[in-house]
Amino acid sequence: MSEIYRASTTAPVNIAVIKYWGKRDPKLNLPTNSSLSVTLSQNDLRTHTTASCSSSYPAEDSLLLNGKPQDVSGARTQACFRELRALRKEVEARDSKASKLADLPLKIVSENNFPTAAGLASSAAGFAALVRAIANLYELPADPTELSRIARQGSGSACRSLFGGYVGWEQGSSADGSDSKAFEVAPASHWPNMRAVILVVSAAKKDVSSTSGMQTTVATSSLFASRASETVPRRMKEMQDAIKNKDFETFAKVTMMDSNSFHATCLDTYPPIFYLNDVSRAAIKMVEQINTAAGKIIAAYTFDAGPNAVIYYLEENEKAVAGVFKTLLADKDGWSGERGAAVEGNYEVAEKANSEAEVAVGLLKEGVSRVILTGVGEGPVRTEEALIDEKGEPV
Ligand code: DP6
Repeated sequence: MSEIYRASTTAPVNIAVIKYWGKRDPKLNLPTNSSLSVTLSQNDLRTHTTASCSSSYPAEDSLLLNGKPQDVSGARTQACFRELRALRKEVEARDSKASKLADLPLKIVSENNFPTAAGLASSAAGFAALVRAIANLYELPADPTELSRIARQGSGSACRSLFGGYVGWEQGSSADGSDSKAFEVAPASHWPNMRAVILVVSAAKKDVSSTSGMQTTVATSSLFASRASETVPRRMKEMQDAIKNKDFETFAKVTMMDSNSFHATCLDTYPPIFYLNDVSRAAIKMVEQINTAAGKIIAAYTFDAGPNAVIYYLEENEKAVAGVFKTLLADKDGWSGERGAAVEGNYEVAEKANSEAEVAVGLLKEGVSRVILTGVGEGPVRTEEALIDEKGEPV
C-alpha cells in the first residue's frame, strides 16, 4: 500500500483592534489599509487541522470541516494550494532524496472548537491552520511571515493568525502582494495579562459576508477614503506604541474608536450594512458604564462583521469588567467551566447598571446566547494529534 503522509496543527482566532476593511485587489486579497489584531488563546478558540497526501487518494483534493465536505475549487483555496505546492516543488528540486509530494492529492480534515461563521473569525483560524498544516506536511522552511502571505490569499485576516500575541498586517504597496504580510508587534509574553470576554449575540450565519460588504463600502462610501488614507495610518502607529508601552487606556480608546469608525463606513455604504444590532449597542453601553464606574478606561469593545461583542480588559480588572457581565448574565453558557467559575461577580456595578441602564441590561439578558472568556495567546502549534488515521481515513 502506498504511504500516507500526514501533519497536524492548531491555529488561533484573532480579533482586530485596527480593522481590515477594503481591498485594493480582491483577487490577491490586498487591503486598502494596514490592520492590527490580538491573537486569542487556543484553549478557548481554535481550528485543528490535519493535512495529508498520498498516491492512494482520489485524484481530487478534499477538505472536511466539522465532518462536512467543503468546496475547495474556489479561487482562494486554490491559490493557497498552488503556492504551497510551488514551494514544495522547490524543496524537491533542491533535494533529490525528498519524496515527491507536491503532485499528490491532498486530503484535509479540520475541526473548530467554536461555532463556524458565527462572526468569530473562523475563516482566519481556518485558513491559517490549512496553510500551516500543509507547510508542515511539505516540510517547508517557510517562516510565519512567508506563510502569512499565502494565508492572506485564503482570507485577509487569516494572515494575522500565523503569529501569536499582538500582530500587524502591513498593507504593502507592490502589485503582486509580495510585501502584504503579517508581522509580530509583540509576543503574547510581552503583555500576557490581556483578557477578552466575548458576548456571543447570535450563532446564526452572518447576513453580508465581509468579502462582499467591503467591496460595496469601497465602491460607495465617501467616509471610507479618509479612513484608509489618514485615520488608520495614524492609529496603526498609536496602537503599536500603546502595545509597546503596555498603555491600556490608549490601547482601549483606539480600539473602540476604530471599531466605531469601521462600522460608520458600513453605515455610510450604499445600501447600508448593519452589523451592530440593539444587543451590540447595549454591550457598548455596558462598557461605558464599567469605565465610568472605574473612573478610567479599563474595558474596550470591538465588533467585527457581526453583532458579537469582544471586550478587552486586563486580568487585574477581571472583577471590574467580566464580573459585571457574570452578575448580569449569570444564567448564560460560559460561566460554568473552571475559567468562568474563577470570575468574581460584581454586584455593585451590576446594580448600578440595573438602575441606570435598565434597557441595555434587558437587551443583553435577552440577546446574549453565550459568553466566552479568553485572553491573548500563542500562534499555531504543531500537534501529533491527527484527524486522519494511518490508513488515510478521517477519525
Ligand atoms: C471585520 O478576512 O473575513 O473582521 O479577506 O474577504 O476573507 P476576506 O475578509 P475577512 O475580513 C475580516 C474583516 C473584519 C476586520 C478584521 O479582521 O480586520
